[in-house]
Amino acid sequence: MPTKKLNIAVAGATGAVGNQMIACLEERSFPVNQIKFLASHRSAGRELKFNDQQIVVEELRENSFKGVDIAIFSAGGGTSKKFAPCAAADGCVVVDNSSAWRMDAEVPLVVPEVNPGAIARYTQKGIIANPNCSTIQMVVPLYAIHRKYKIKRIVVSTYQAVSGTGQKAIEELDNQTRAILADEKYASKVYPHQIAFNCLPHIDVFLENGYTKEEMKMVNETRKIMEDDTIQVTATTVRVPVFYSHSESINLETQEHVSAEEIKALLRETSGVQVVDNPSADIYPLATDAAGQDDILVGRIRDDESIPNGINLWVTADNIRKGAATNAVQIAEILAKDYL
Ligand code: A2P
Repeated sequence: MPTKKLNIAVAGATGAVGNQMIACLEERSFPVNQIKFLASHRSAGRELKFNDQQIVVEELRENSFKGVDIAIFSAGGGTSKKFAPCAAADGCVVVDNSSAWRMDAEVPLVVPEVNPGAIARYTQKGIIANPNCSTIQMVVPLYAIHRKYKIKRIVVSTYQAVSGTGQKAIEELDNQTRAILADEKYASKVYPHQIAFNCLPHIDVFLENGYTKEEMKMVNETRKIMEDDTIQVTATTVRVPVFYSHSESINLETQEHVSAEEIKALLRETSGVQVVDNPSADIYPLATDAAGQDDILVGRIRDDESIPNGINLWVTADNIRKGAATNAVQIAEILAKDYL
């Protein structure tokens, strides 16, 4: 671990991901000198705990970043678009969890298990982007496979938890479920349809090509992180009534032939991945098991019998931890250790 203590800001500290970012900084004993918690004017004056200190939340402003070494943002795309350049202009390095900067050619998009070397390019804009949660949990196991067997095509369908939408969505699922079970009415506010007891094939906005923005994030971010534009990706992203952890059904086509047994052996050696795969004992990755831990769980590993070089996987991870906060804090750790 790095020894130099840094001044840190968490923008969006009162949100679902912001809260977990604070917990990760504590758990991983990040070398903090001073810490600042920033949010909207609605939360200014609230107090949040960091280790044994009570920290007063401040309103995020253009001048919030003077003297700050690293700012971790999770306060929405519009906020990042507006305030990340202000932070960078004050010499602060931004690790941004929103989609605002991910596809900017001058901004590295980083998953530490896959492309840690890309962090060096933070100097171009002073911003490093944290990928989309569904993409992070997919690329960690798939990059290990790609390096050895070259992936030609990925077909992925996601089963995404409501916590990915934020705190208000967690409350909507909770309240709506209780209301329906009590035979009461509960209007949907966060989602366009009832999320309790339902599956919504709609995450983020629809685009002209008929895909959603979330689906195209999985296509474009996978290629950028794996640094290979030849990989074909098609995604269907679905919101399901689960609080924490996204699950994904992934079908791969590889250039080199590889068996399910070889994939299991490879993934057992892959950092950040846990193979959970013993169907005869009903053991496979579950959202409830992934929640609260940083490992990406992979199971149901089997040959795709419909094509010569195909593999099927089921991948589950905590979307708030490895899908967001942990990945951002891992990036900050590398920055602290190797660059600042
Ligand atoms: P606040 O709690 O004051 O609204 P979530 O993803 O769980 O919805 O959380 C979003 C986070 O982003 C919250 O901390 C929220 O603060 C913060 N946020 C939202 N809009 C702004 C804004 N315009 N300026 C600063 N922080 C914002």
